[in-house]
Amino acid sequence: MGKLVTIEGGEGAGKTTLIENLKKYFVENNIDFVATREPGGSKVCENIRNILKYSDEKISERAEILLFSASRAQLVDEFIKPKLAEGKIVVCDRFFDSTRVYQGFAGNFDDKEIMDITNFATNGLLPDITFYLDIDPVVAFKRKGGQDKGDRIEERDMSYHQKVRQGFLELVKREDRIVKLDATLSEEELLCLVVSKLKQEKIIE
Ligand SMILES: Nc1ncnc2c1ncn2[C@@H]1O[C@H](COP(=O)(O)OP(=O)(O)O)[C@@H](O)[C@H]1O
Ligand SMILES: [Mg+2]
Repeated sequence: MGKLVTIEGGEGAGKTTLIENLKKYFVENNIDFVATREPGGSKVCENIRNILKYSDEKISERAEILLFSASRAQLVDEFIKPKLAEGKIVVCDRFFDSTRVYQGFAGNFDDKEIMDITNFATNGLLPDITFYLDIDPVVAFKRKGGQDKGDRIEERDMSYHQKVRQGFLELVKREDRIVKLDATLSEEELLCLVVSKLKQEKIIE
């Protein structure tokens, strides 16, 4: 079996940048991996992503959770599980911890309710390790040049994004698999921390 590595954090935390650097490292070191993102990663999932990000019709809170979960179920069944079965390292830009935080802690749902739906969607699949990039959302949005207007989730107000951060920090306390990283470190420092943790956990050699 391969290993599932997930990268979490708010908008502009540096998830995509970290994954690009990790991909370069894996290529240079002949490590067999694939990278994907949530919601998305396949045609069905990208269609669901477009609804979630850009729908001009209101999406109910429960429908939003189910849409994220539907996308996740598709990605797990069609991509993540087969790649893990081939022995690959699968790196995923966001996974269910984002739903627990965005729709749970910062939304109106208990973690238990979200996890019940999540476990159905993933058939119980858990990441082997999760890196959470922690940063003040004010700093993160400054770094990425402002909030993306028209993105349903990104354009929510700053108090929502602060709750998202508090939610992630709460999950870090609860779950040993989640490793918190200071997202204000340099790209090189972050890559170095991730690689050494992956080695320590015997996910790579
Ligand atoms: N470690 C870092 N230090 C400074 N700026 C960074 C760092 N990582 C990413 N950035 C910058 O922050 C912005 C958002 O990064 P990105 O990787 O797209 O975040 P995310 O995928 O989490 O939304 C980009 O402009 C990127 O160049
Ligand atoms: Mg990104």
